[in-house]
Amino acid sequence: HELKLNLEQIEKGGYDHFMLKEIYEQPSVIRDTYRGRLLANEGIIKLGGLEEYIPKFINADRIIIVACGTSWHAGLVAEYIFEDWARIPVEVEYASEFRYRNPIITEKDVVIAISQSGETADTLAAIKLAKEKGAFVYGICNVVGSTISRETHSGTYTHAGPEIGVASTKAFTTQITVLTMIALKLAQIKGTISKSNYMMHLRELEQIPNHVEEALKSNDKIKEIAEVFKDASNFLYLGRGYNFPVALEGALKLKEISYIHAEGYPAAEMKHGPIALIDENMPVVVIAINSNHYDKVVSNIQEIKSRKGVIIAVVTKGDTVVREMADYIMEVPNTPETLTPLVTTIPLQLLSYHIAVMLNRNVDQPRNLAKSVTVE
Ligand code: G6P
Repeated sequence: HELKLNLEQIEKGGYDHFMLKEIYEQPSVIRDTYRGRLLANEGIIKLGGLEEYIPKFINADRIIIVACGTSWHAGLVAEYIFEDWARIPVEVEYASEFRYRNPIITEKDVVIAISQSGETADTLAAIKLAKEKGAFVYGICNVVGSTISRETHSGTYTHAGPEIGVASTKAFTTQITVLTMIALKLAQIKGTISKSNYMMHLRELEQIPNHVEEALKSNDKIKEIAEVFKDASNFLYLGRGYNFPVALEGALKLKEISYIHAEGYPAAEMKHGPIALIDENMPVVVIAINSNHYDKVVSNIQEIKSRKGVIIAVVTKGDTVVREMADYIMEVPNTPETLTPLVTTIPLQLLSYHIAVMLNRNVDQPRNLAKSVTVE
């Protein structure tokens, strides 16, 4: 027993939990995921699994992304990126819904299955169905040799390394890294992105590990914020555009490991429901970074403040406007809008981690949850 404990401590590499270790691994695993694939100076993206199937993607009527949980959130981010850059229509589906709803799938569809474990039963069933209907199926998995990676026609591995904590962290950011590279590659070939924009994003993607490193430096500050809100019974997470899925993911992380009820919402949709919940007891986490949506998010914050809601805002370093309005801020480095999910996710992971630790939860193995769900 003692031996096992010691082994586990070694595996945790000095961190109290696997989840924290995995959060801190993100700069290096994002780098591992693009290493040898992203040659920013040469303007090249090389994805072995993709090359020969590029025409399939380019000529597809649409891309259907199937996934569950956190991987589904990565799919939502990809929808925004693919449509913006590559101008290919994208639908994102919960694998469990897709498989049972008699979906319309043709040979002109490309299905992307995203799965950390590569073993999720619903995702596996969804790709089997898609294959039967003649679609081309591409996998984005982390576990090498997993069932989904074998059942797909081709794919790209994330290089996140083993993820032990049940709540997914580094798998999410590496999935987005792969999806971003695919979208950039397709956009470049289709000519739907300008050369300068393409080159700029390659260089900026290469900088993401440094930005994540920087974002992690707010850990102590985030811990203080966690201390203030650990006893809240509800949280609302809001974001717009590329950061709407990040709001969903932030809320999911909190639910999973702290058991605090949290809801993620597109900020503008708040007025159609969640605004009724806002009072002085409702912490609202708002992703309010530099973006096309900044002014809109600022007015959402005003709406929350005028109802006495408490604001915890994720802002871009150097922000002055939201800083004045928010009760607490968590800073992230400036990065092009499309890439922001890779950095805005970091403080939200840390916030839920610290709250869960303070509440004495079993962070790495939350109740009722499993790392890979191989049954329906
Ligand atoms: C479980 C895990 C989640 C994960 C989801 C999908 O619910 O607890 O962390 O996001 O399954 O898993 P997959 O391995 O397919 O990405």
